Amino acid sequence: MRAGEIRKKYLEFFKEKGHAVIPSASLIPENDPSVLFTTAGMHPLVPFLLGEKHPAGKRLVSVQKCLRTGDIDEVGDNCHLTFFEMLGNWSLGDYWKEEAIKWSWEFLTDAKWLGLNPKKLAVTVFAGDEDCPFDEESYNLWRALGMPEARIARLDKDENWWPAGGNNPGPQGPDTEIFYWTALSAAPARFDPKDANWVEIWNNVFMQYNRTAMRNYEPLKQKNVDTGFGLERTAAALQGKDSIYEIELLAPLMDYLKSVAKNYNERSARIIVDHLRAAIFILADHSGIIPSNLKQGYVLRKLIRRAIRLAKKINIPLAVNLSDKIAEMVIDQLKDAYPELLKNKKKILTELDKEEKSFEKTLENGLKQFSKMAIDKKISGAEAFELYATYGFPLEIIQELAEEKGARVDEREFDLEMAKHQELSRTASSGMFKGGLANHSEQAVKYHTATHLLHQALRDVLGGAVEQKGSNINEERLRFDFSHAQKMTDEEIKKVEDIVNEKIKKGLPVVCEETTVSRAKERGAIGLFGDKYGEKVKVYSMGNYSKEICGGPHVEHLGVLGHFRIIKEEASSSGIRRIKAVLE
Ligand code: ALA
Repeated sequence: MRAGEIRKKYLEFFKEKGHAVIPSASLIPENDPSVLFTTAGMHPLVPFLLGEKHPAGKRLVSVQKCLRTGDIDEVGDNCHLTFFEMLGNWSLGDYWKEEAIKWSWEFLTDAKWLGLNPKKLAVTVFAGDEDCPFDEESYNLWRALGMPEARIARLDKDENWWPAGGNNPGPQGPDTEIFYWTALSAAPARFDPKDANWVEIWNNVFMQYNRTAMRNYEPLKQKNVDTGFGLERTAAALQGKDSIYEIELLAPLMDYLKSVAKNYNERSARIIVDHLRAAIFILADHSGIIPSNLKQGYVLRKLIRRAIRLAKKINIPLAVNLSDKIAEMVIDQLKDAYPELLKNKKKILTELDKEEKSFEKTLENGLKQFSKMAIDKKISGAEAFELYATYGFPLEIIQELAEEKGARVDEREFDLEMAKHQELSRTASSGMFKGGLANHSEQAVKYHTATHLLHQALRDVLGGAVEQKGSNINEERLRFDFSHAQKMTDEEIKKVEDIVNEKIKKGLPVVCEETTVSRAKERGAIGLFGDKYGEKVKVYSMGNYSKEICGGPHVEHLGVLGHFRIIKEEASSSGIRRIKAVLE
């Protein structure tokens, strides 16, 4: 069954079950500075999952364009893509586990729909832990549908929870994932989720908790179902293909590359195809992103440049106009499902062309320079930075080149160089290329780390009675509320700034360890202690200076933070002061 057919059937099936079809939202989240791209169908629906009324009703179905850069290193294997389409259906406080599971089963196995052999299916359910119980309801529902006990795996929050790991505040809950046996041999009686022949094809999330910033799981007033069905991956499994690059959306692009590359290499070709598809969709998006040195624009730039570099590696002649050709093919394939492709065709071709030309100017010389630098198998931070700043090589390309030569890049030093040249780009170092709901933008992570330093510095300057009362971070600034009776003097403010900047200058390492609450307390960690004494917590230490219980994430060393400045100190409420500060 072709991907296009699966897409159509899915919408049809859920329409029959009373769902409204909603259009794909933008690839760029509209009101969420914590992520760069839409990473799942649920992402644009967060306000509605939290209880806001959706104009289309309580049952929704969509095909959402998604981009995940968190797994970018895996792209090129059989099953990872940065850009993909996600089919999903939602219940906003309407139906619950029984309907969701039954409908998944019906859609997958009924001959009228996908008609999969039930003997080739297996599922996972949440096993339960100290915070949240075993998802017995889902387990029983699967059993009632005839799923053998041995085909139901019970997994923990790292595997069976959305968002994965349950480390982020917000609506979330246990999920039940459906796997399909893809090998030619008969499916084994016992389901082993680690066996790569079992491929996840669909995820049903039961959002029943809101995880608070204090890391408590509160029952959600409105229980939601959030499902995700990766179109390319599922199509590959259903078509009996070993890799997603063999389905009809990607195979023609791969064939084309094969026909023009003089030194063809499968992995490089896959990365080129994936990255160009992602770039084409970012450029088609109504958000108006174009290649730049900032945020999404920088990710776009990196995707295009990496594709160009690899195209050179597998020796695709420039005269081929590779990206134009791929864009023409992708637009032609998907113009009906995504009208923005055709609408923005001219822009897509122009921007790809511009970026290609500008990188090609420096690529050749940069590669020569790189070869010289790599002779001793070590690329220093300054050398890497030169490749970045003078030749336009994103760090990821430098790392990839180094890997090919068995050389090493001093990333820490590179980050320090980068910090010194803040004006070049706030977002260009490695972290920004990663993404996903669990990931925060690099700038927000820096502010988070700076918050810890500020907290400790305030205690040093104003006394140990200072306690954190609230914190809020966006990409522009941090905000920190703390207990303190009087207005801070200018001198105190200056002292706090100086301490924080001194720690940053020292470039202290940030180290995370997992321990128990009691151990953390013994070692003098500050922060929010859970109620349960045995509870495992993460403690972040910044050199010997700050030690705080926290879920993370943080930068790896303080050198990357830049210069810290307090821009405002004011009363927040009685006995509580509020500081706003920036990194510049
Ligand atoms: N939001 C869930 C996922 O992406 C369905 O897996």
